[in-house]
Amino acid sequence: MNNPIIVALDLPSPQKAVKLAEELAPVVGAFKVGKQLFVSGGPDIVRKLRATGAKVFLDLKLHDIPNTVAKAVIAATDLGVQMTTVHASGGTAMLAAAENAAHEQAAMLRAEPPLVLAVTVLTSMDDGDFAELGVGGSLEEQVLRLAKLATGAGLRGLVCSPQEIEILRAELGDDVQLVTPGIRPATMKADDQKRTMTPAEAIQVGANWLVIGRPITGANDPRVAAIGILHSINPELVPESERREPIPEIVDCAECGQSLKLDATEQATGRYHCPHCDKDVAHKG
Ligand code: C5P
Repeated sequence: MNNPIIVALDLPSPQKAVKLAEELAPVVGAFKVGKQLFVSGGPDIVRKLRATGAKVFLDLKLHDIPNTVAKAVIAATDLGVQMTTVHASGGTAMLAAAENAAHEQAAMLRAEPPLVLAVTVLTSMDDGDFAELGVGGSLEEQVLRLAKLATGAGLRGLVCSPQEIEILRAELGDDVQLVTPGIRPATMKADDQKRTMTPAEAIQVGANWLVIGRPITGANDPRVAAIGILHSINPELVPESERREPIPEIVDCAECGQSLKLDATEQATGRYHCPHCDKDVAHKG
């Protein structure tokens, strides 16, 4: 199993993004560059992230005439990204043009083609927003219709919400790559994500990649947070250099001295949140 964590680098400054990426590269699978970071950092941010040795997911959600989208995918392939996104609602011709562009340009460069992922219905839309568009059927039916349209046009992957993974996996089989945001470790707050799954749950129901932002980028120690998440998915994913002797299940808080029970991830990372003194604590052995 590959490291499935894609860290969403939703940060205001390209400098901060590169610094964080350098710290996290050994313990995560890829970095996602979205519109905010790409508009501020330009193609150079992608080059700098690639220079850390990490994979890059360029999430620009392209939606335009087929020729324009194909040209943008060629430019992304030239930049050496491993994944990029297009809106499935752009239709078969646009989707096929994007996929073909990725393959043809990669063949010219003798490189692997980037995975062109289709976005179906934005998860920010609810049934009311959807009805306004005048598209017949339910939102879920539209997700499935667009997912089939995208795979029918040759796309090898989709971005989906955690709740859609099971149905898409059942309908589309095992080959399609499913990339999902809306991931929250059990101990963390949901922020503005409404329907979340833990990293382990999402992998269990069939996700290939997990897009995780604030639980890692907003943590006191992002590297420890990433290692904790990896450990919760599969302890063998944690690089050997980062493994440590697990600490006991019951410990006395290093800050307030009261005893507390740790879960497996907290035992593995030696970091916990103490419910007694409400502090993030690094265990002192
Ligand atoms: O911080 P958080 O883990 O919520 O970040 C999730 C990332 O995934 C953000 O970059 C967000 O824009 C993106 N995303 C999402 N929901 C979608 C599609 C993308 O949260 N449906």
